[in-house]
Amino acid sequence: MKNILKLLGGCFVASAAAQQPLFIPDTLSGSTITLNMHADSVQFLLGIKTSTYAYNSYSYLGPTLILNNGANVSLVVNNQLADTSTVHWHGLHVAAINDGGPHTPILPGATWNPQFTVMNSAATYWYHPHTHMKTAEQAIKGADGMIIVRDNAEAALSLPRRYGVDDFPIIVQSVQFDSLNQLMPLGMQDSSLMVNGTMNPFVNLPSQVVRLRLLNASGERVMNFGFTANKSFYIIASDGGLMSAPILTTRVRLAPGERAEVLIDLIGMNGQVVNLMSYGSELPVGVQGGPTMAMPPGSPPMDSPLNGVDYNLLQINVAAQTLNPVTTIPSSLVPLNPWLESQANITRTIAMNAPSAMSMDGPFTFNNLSFDMMRIDYQIPLDNIEIWELTNQTMVAHPFHIHDVQFYLLDRDGNLPPLHERGKKDVVLIESNETVRFITKFEDFADTLTPYMFHCHILMHEDDGMMGQFLVVPATSGMNDVIVNDGFRLFPNPIKDKFSVQLLDKLDKVLILEIHNLLGEIVYSYNFKSNEIIDLDLSMLNAGTYIAKVKTEKNNFVQKIIKN
Ligand code: C2O
Ligand code: CU
Ligand code: CU
Repeated sequence: MKNILKLLGGCFVASAAAQQPLFIPDTLSGSTITLNMHADSVQFLLGIKTSTYAYNSYSYLGPTLILNNGANVSLVVNNQLADTSTVHWHGLHVAAINDGGPHTPILPGATWNPQFTVMNSAATYWYHPHTHMKTAEQAIKGADGMIIVRDNAEAALSLPRRYGVDDFPIIVQSVQFDSLNQLMPLGMQDSSLMVNGTMNPFVNLPSQVVRLRLLNASGERVMNFGFTANKSFYIIASDGGLMSAPILTTRVRLAPGERAEVLIDLIGMNGQVVNLMSYGSELPVGVQGGPTMAMPPGSPPMDSPLNGVDYNLLQINVAAQTLNPVTTIPSSLVPLNPWLESQANITRTIAMNAPSAMSMDGPFTFNNLSFDMMRIDYQIPLDNIEIWELTNQTMVAHPFHIHDVQFYLLDRDGNLPPLHERGKKDVVLIESNETVRFITKFEDFADTLTPYMFHCHILMHEDDGMMGQFLVVPATSGMNDVIVNDGFRLFPNPIKDKFSVQLLDKLDKVLILEIHNLLGEIVYSYNFKSNEIIDLDLSMLNAGTYIAKVKTEKNNFVQKIIKN
């Protein structure tokens, strides 16, 4: 399996006129999927090659993974980079330890082997690194790939699903090269466009109904997808599943991280050309890619030539029909059953903040708290149905993403969301001064130690601290707002029978110690009367792993302990 980017190596240059055939990554499927993450380089521009990250035989991006709902899959991720990394399955509902967030680093040379059952609905997902403070750098170097989930409900519909024939991955990235032709993780002057890692691409599509899986994998830029001559198309899927019915439209706006599957009807157009565009001129000021704002002095440059203009992403040359073409658009797709507001256990309110009202480049935060690997922002009881109410108090739009779940939008500023945002989602763009509410349920996976992330999917904002984390805990684990850190010592650990607890903060006072088993049940508890180190006795517990939780006057701490 030779890499097309490599084969094309010599002619893979950015001369404005030289069009390149759209690169279509091969697919990988089956019960064991191996991903070798490695450093490489690509001749994107004339002169110096661009250093890249990629998977398997590719020099940029990775294969498209095809997963079947209900199947068990074992992913073998080998980190052949010189740097620590992680791989996150964006949008997939998996246990926190399999999620590939910053708490599951893969050291250089190491292998990570998450195994899980595919529980998601048929839709388009993706994978990318999620390394602490390095997501932008590693994802923008190309360590991204598409995931296609298939299920029975989707298979029963008459939809194009022949990969590379009538069903295409469309991974769109807007990137910025520095003067040495290297990809820049930061900055707002991104001016080079790629689809599937191809600059200035064209693709030949058959004159029938064709499915495009649009993924905005840019670090920052919002895409306002449409076709030339305002050709209409149908949106059939949002981030996490099919819509209830195809939605006829001429635009779909996707922020970084968002996906949409669309059907375009090319019947009778053999020989014609139609371009996939982004209509940036229609984006409002404040949405990245819209017209550049008047900048306060001292702000970073953000004058990309792509801001506020319409530009071509992919030239589509319509060609002959294939055998057995899909020629109709289904009238309905799958039933959707959003949770009702009346079912919610809690509403969490999150404000998006900037250091000053005029700040365009952050560092942005949630509720004025910068990301802290040691701080758990929410402890969510398993099976909670929750409303999250997000208010953007900054000048710029932020795509909010949450791991573990798919959600349904309830409203935007009190109004029903547009039709194409009424399906399952895991990213939602929130404009300046806007309030968005969504509802979701935290099901199936509880883990008192490994958190899931929520963050802005503008990668520079995420790395800069616009991220938080939550634990989904067994509904029986009584303590709220547990903070994971090493704020106390429980020693010795492993414990034989006698042990002691000591707080690192001498001004704090320990109140309660609880020992939970891995089901979250309390198997031991002790109410402290003073901060003295006293010998406690755990000799009655069976050998095994337990969770120690300490409640103090200032904090709650949690730590894994071993009983021998
Ligand atoms: Cu696509 Cu937390 O990421
Ligand atoms: Cu994600
Ligand atoms: Cu942001």
